[in-house]
Amino acid sequence: MKIDLKGKRALVTGGSSGIGSAIATALAAAGADVAITYLTHPKSADAIVRSIKKRRGKALAIKADVSDPESVTAMFTKIDEEWGGVDILINNAGMDGKRALSWETNFEDWRKVLQVNLFGAFYCASEALKRMVVQKSGVILGISSVHEEIAWSGYSAYTASKAAVGMMTRTLAQEAAPHGIRVLALAPGAIKTPINRSVWDSPKMLKDLLRKIPLNRMGKPEEIARMVVVLVSDVSAYITGRTIFVDGGMTDFPDFAHGG
Ligand code: BGC
Repeated sequence: MKIDLKGKRALVTGGSSGIGSAIATALAAAGADVAITYLTHPKSADAIVRSIKKRRGKALAIKADVSDPESVTAMFTKIDEEWGGVDILINNAGMDGKRALSWETNFEDWRKVLQVNLFGAFYCASEALKRMVVQKSGVILGISSVHEEIAWSGYSAYTASKAAVGMMTRTLAQEAAPHGIRVLALAPGAIKTPINRSVWDSPKMLKDLLRKIPLNRMGKPEEIARMVVVLVSDVSAYITGRTIFVDGGMTDFPDFAHGG
């Protein structure tokens, strides 16, 4: 089985670091043209674009804030100008937010997480779908989280945003299917990236985390990226409207290996 994304124009939001940069690199390796958006890491965005171009791929970095609809429209206009449209959208930009119990949370912080993780994903999906419906093809994949299902104290905005991403995915998939478009989500577990550095940097916290993962290790960004390539390719032509969990078994609730 060979996956070839040649000629496909992909957009990866938040593609300058963590899981996003691994996805951008993997899509390019599979032959796609890749545009990444960045907000805070211009240097790493440039480095990814350069490394893709070095291997003769087409790449583009665009500064954009997905939580701002005007910025999202501007970034799609830029891609239209450069490449004439988009075939694959990876809604990856996201944030955990500050840990705070709900009765201690600052509302502005709470709102921001929803604005990036949910509203941002919707703005991008809506712009992408406008184009995909006309061309009658396309794939949208949202990066969700195991916290689409697993409650997480101190992160009510994050868990709420990811649960919402799951249902938004299913609804958009229903709307888009008659137009030849698939809409999916992928829910990573604990993947070793800057977002959770405070956990894997501390032996005590890491030990606690590993107890929550049946495969007993954190995931690698590349393990998410290669599933993304599979899911957006025609190998997965019959999958839509679902969240696929790539989590080392985290949602298998390993604490139930005993007792109950
Ligand atoms: C979060 C990580 C966390 C993981 C497992 C992810 O969605 O972004 O910070 O380590 O879930 O809890």
